[in-house]
Amino acid sequence: MSTIELEQQISPGSPVSDGHRQKTTSLSGKILIGVTGGIAVGLSIVCYPFVAPALRRHCLPFVPATPNQIRNVLSFVKPSTAGSKLLDIGSGDGRIVIAAARSRPSLKADGVELNPWLVYYSRLTALRNGVFNRTNFFQKDLWKFSIAPYDHIVIFGVEQMMEDLEKKILSEATPGTTVIACRFPFPTMKTVDRIEEGIDSVWLYRPVTKPSSHGTPNGA
Ligand SMILES: C[S@@+](CC[C@H](N)C(=O)[O-])C[C@H]1O[C@@H](n2cnc3c(N)ncnc32)[C@H](O)[C@@H]1O
Repeated sequence: MSTIELEQQISPGSPVSDGHRQKTTSLSGKILIGVTGGIAVGLSIVCYPFVAPALRRHCLPFVPATPNQIRNVLSFVKPSTAGSKLLDIGSGDGRIVIAAARSRPSLKADGVELNPWLVYYSRLTALRNGVFNRTNFFQKDLWKFSIAPYDHIVIFGVEQMMEDLEKKILSEATPGTTVIACRFPFPTMKTVDRIEEGIDSVWLYRPVTKPSSHGTPNGA
């Protein structure tokens, strides 16, 4: 029998047994604080990229395209010459890029996305769908990403950003580029075609561009 057990039998409320209990309690308390603190830090690391867009000048949250919206976008991406390139600006979980690559075997499709988790997820989905070699996902800020190399540009944005995005497209896109906007149209660009379906509405543009600057190279 240990000294503590003996002490407890003789005098259950003794300072020795109370001290031992306090030590055990404070150790399990520290473990609990460590575990909950670790979970809180882990959750913050995972969640921050989803909140970060709201802290920017143009708040563009992750709202994935609906199946109807994707179908409407693809109806404006004509089967084209081999090697033509599509870019989804703010590509989220990659669903538009992957659907475009799957349905147009001659197309190369890229996405630019700020959220690293969504970029990793997109790459994994591209791999699972057999289009990894014809897709690229760049973890970059769309406002610092050159759109010049692309023949088709897709954007599912928010109303507040469309004016600035129109300026970027008019100054960077090469002549002949097709621009497809989901849910929110551009303020002054001339609409070529439109599928009117409420929140799944999609607009087609062929902007008359003045490519004074092609932006900075995007890199890999
Ligand atoms: C409305 S969601 C569209 C997602 C995808 N295009 C789709 O249709 O399913 C907009 C995406 O843009 C991303 N985003 C927000 N600000 C960005 C920025 N400055 N640069 C790149 N991506 C950004 C968000 O993380 C979000 O995933």
